[in-house]
Amino acid sequence: MAVRDILRMGDPRLLVPAEPVAAFDTPGLHNLIADMLDTMAAAGGVGLAAPQIGVGLQVVIFGFERSVRYPDAPAVPMTVLINPCIVPLGSDEALAWEGCLSVPGLRGEVPRPERIRYSGYDPLGNRIEREVDGFHARVVQHECDHLNGVLYPMRVRDFSRFGFTDVLFPELA
Ligand code: NI
Repeated sequence: MAVRDILRMGDPRLLVPAEPVAAFDTPGLHNLIADMLDTMAAAGGVGLAAPQIGVGLQVVIFGFERSVRYPDAPAVPMTVLINPCIVPLGSDEALAWEGCLSVPGLRGEVPRPERIRYSGYDPLGNRIEREVDGFHARVVQHECDHLNGVLYPMRVRDFSRFGFTDVLFPELA
């Protein structure tokens, strides 16, 4: 399919809540997902949301075996998640570094619920429901934030823990 341009922070389209997908297993949906997979792979990302390529639909993809961007992160199964819903489990909060393909060159430490249940649908309309924690939970929350027009810098509380990747983590540069 095609590698699409990724919108960068400042583009107003990243701030618009996405609409639910109304029909599954359609050529348009499969084309969108193929483009998202190609775009994420080309950028070396671990997740991507449809609004990041300018499509205002509730579609996210995430997953990796090993990530150059997050070398210490455990593998997350490659997943296409449509019309997602997230419920935090418990009140534990975790703090960890995040980056975003729409915020290139920067990292910030972001607080999020440590453990969640998430649900949604695959491209054929089959139900997905999982309980996860750690990096998996973080990636899903980050991607689903994009569907609500939220970028991770909006969640940073301590701006002494926000900066350029090559300064914070020279080994990743
Ligand atoms: Ni992002």
